[in-house]
Amino acid sequence: MTKKEVINNTKSFVQKTLKDAEAGHDWFHVLRVYNNAMSILSNETADEFVVALAALLHDIADSKFHNGNEDIGPQVAKSFLEIQSVDEAVLSHVIAIIKNVSYKGGYTASSFHSKELEIVQDADRLDAIGAIGIARTFNFGGYKNNPIYDPQISPNPNQSKEEYKKSKSTTINHFYEKLLLLKDKMNTTTAQKLAEDRHEFMLDYLNQFYKEWNGEL
Ligand code: ADP
Ligand code: NI
Repeated sequence: MTKKEVINNTKSFVQKTLKDAEAGHDWFHVLRVYNNAMSILSNETADEFVVALAALLHDIADSKFHNGNEDIGPQVAKSFLEIQSVDEAVLSHVIAIIKNVSYKGGYTASSFHSKELEIVQDADRLDAIGAIGIARTFNFGGYKNNPIYDPQISPNPNQSKEEYKKSKSTTINHFYEKLLLLKDKMNTTTAQKLAEDRHEFMLDYLNQFYKEWNGEL
């Protein structure tokens, strides 16, 4: 099988697998992350095949939607790539990226690093901020039936991985616990630049939100 065929098979597989996914972690999220990754890659030196496969498979079975099981995503991706007869080196690199891409409060358990991981992580983080990031966050908050905002509940930006995962905080607090922290966590300069406008947009949004909340507009 050619690389192009494997990529096309992967796209179909992901699209089918995520057909009933929460809207912030669906095929369109994956497609945006894939496109972000390809544009970051145009300014970096990295293995395009690994970046493409990892971007496409990074949310194939997110632990948030599988009772916290962090092994299922890498397992599903591995079984799929084995059927595609992908090289062992490519396969293990893609799996390592899937295991390490997630934010989970900014804490990572592993010491795995690669340029390809950096690119996929930045691509995923870009989709968590700006106008799309706002839409995804409110969708997820609604899915969890979390409050939009509560002035009595203050944000906790220094949560541990466990606290972050079980947080029942408000959706506005999620901006302070994650979204506004992402601009300074980008690995590549390309993503750092793209993050700036999206970050400003979120600050403007919050400003307007509080003014309307407080009846100042
Ligand atoms: P990753 O999928 O990279 O591990 P997260 O699990 O932190 O990252 O979240 C991915 C996206 O899901 C966030 O960018 C946000 O849009 C949404 N999300 C996650 N947790 C929350 C939350 N507590 N409140 C609102 N949105 C959330
Ligand atoms: Ni993602």
